[in-house]
Amino acid sequence: MAEKISLSRLNLTDFRNYAEASLRLDGRHVVLTGENGAGKTNLMEAVSFLSPGRGLRRAVLTDVSRVGASGGFTVFADVDGMEGEVSLGTGIEGIDGEAVSRRLRINGTPARSTEELTDHLSVLWLTPAMDGLFTGPAGDRRRFLDRLVLSLDPAHGRRASDFERAMRSRNRLLSEGRFDPSWLGAIEAQMAGLGIAMAAARQEMLGLLSKLSSANGETPFPTPLLALRGFLDEGMDRPSADLEDDYRAMLEAGRTRDAAAGRTLDGPHRADLLVRHREKDMEAERCSTGEQKALLIGLVLAHARLTADMTGYAPVLLLDEIAAHLDEGRRIALFDLIDALGGQSFMTGTDRQMFASLGERAQFLTVSHGGIRDDA
Ligand SMILES: Nc1ncnc2c1ncn2[C@@H]1O[C@H](COP(=O)(O)OP(=O)(O)O)[C@@H](O)[C@H]1O
Ligand SMILES: [Mg+2]
Repeated sequence: MAEKISLSRLNLTDFRNYAEASLRLDGRHVVLTGENGAGKTNLMEAVSFLSPGRGLRRAVLTDVSRVGASGGFTVFADVDGMEGEVSLGTGIEGIDGEAVSRRLRINGTPARSTEELTDHLSVLWLTPAMDGLFTGPAGDRRRFLDRLVLSLDPAHGRRASDFERAMRSRNRLLSEGRFDPSWLGAIEAQMAGLGIAMAAARQEMLGLLSKLSSANGETPFPTPLLALRGFLDEGMDRPSADLEDDYRAMLEAGRTRDAAAGRTLDGPHRADLLVRHREKDMEAERCSTGEQKALLIGLVLAHARLTADMTGYAPVLLLDEIAAHLDEGRRIALFDLIDALGGQSFMTGTDRQMFASLGERAQFLTVSHGGIRDDA
């Protein structure tokens, strides 16, 4: 059984609708209930800032600061994490001036980058905004997959941003008509190395998730069949040196075409994640809304389990409005599955009654107008 990562304290200042909030947690799951607009998702978002990136809303950081506050926001948390007890602080300082970036302090000491959060905990989430994942644009699915990869392979983010940068240079040269073969060749070689590494990391994640899914057993949440489409569809099992050569040749051969298109038409930035409902043998986008939600839950649970297996620590799960569209049987099964992962989960809803079957396994909090009350 994986060890638990848990938050014991969370303090916010000027975070969304919270001027100040302070909350003690006892290590159990956390159920947040309250009216629409009370601040439940905001609280989850605050916890999501304990992972690198822009949080579960993919927010513009300056939008996070409370309207009417003079400057930045802070999120402080005490966490019993992968390196023991740690105090984490993050936020932005002011909103005027140049580009804002999120600061991080670990035990009071400034950290070089928010990537260092992954030494202490991993945070995964599922929100209603993700409901359209299977029917929406490929970019959303690709980003979703990349987050999954990133949680087990922190170098993935760096590879992706280096690839983007190289691709922009190539696009610029092509659009300016500068077909300098040695310059373009060097950029394309770099893109090939990074692009194949990205594709391989994604493929590996899908392989791991698929292995887990066959062990998923009898749950109401199907673990989906996953595949990548849109970039080197065939033969990803060949040696990566060969794949790199192929991709470099594709880029070279595609210069005139890409110059005309104004962008690079082949690459890992065009890949799509294909999801199928195994039992129904049907593409996810053709499944019913409820079936899509079940698939998504199955996917996130499988990923949580994978993270726990691979790191030895069960991740913190943020499950926003998770119970809303589930019948009672599925709800009870879901809470049991979540609990069996062995981590601390945060769940929200408007109706506390929906979480009744969690019983003593959860701490119940009521959120209203930027305030939080412990109902114990
Ligand atoms: N930067 C901000 N400053 C102040 N209020 C904000 C800010 N961003 C969002 N809000 C408000 O926070 C409220 C609560 O949002 P949310 O947490 O999504 O509610 P819910 O409890 O329904 O999940 C909303 O009324 C929203 O307008
Ligand atoms: Mg909400």
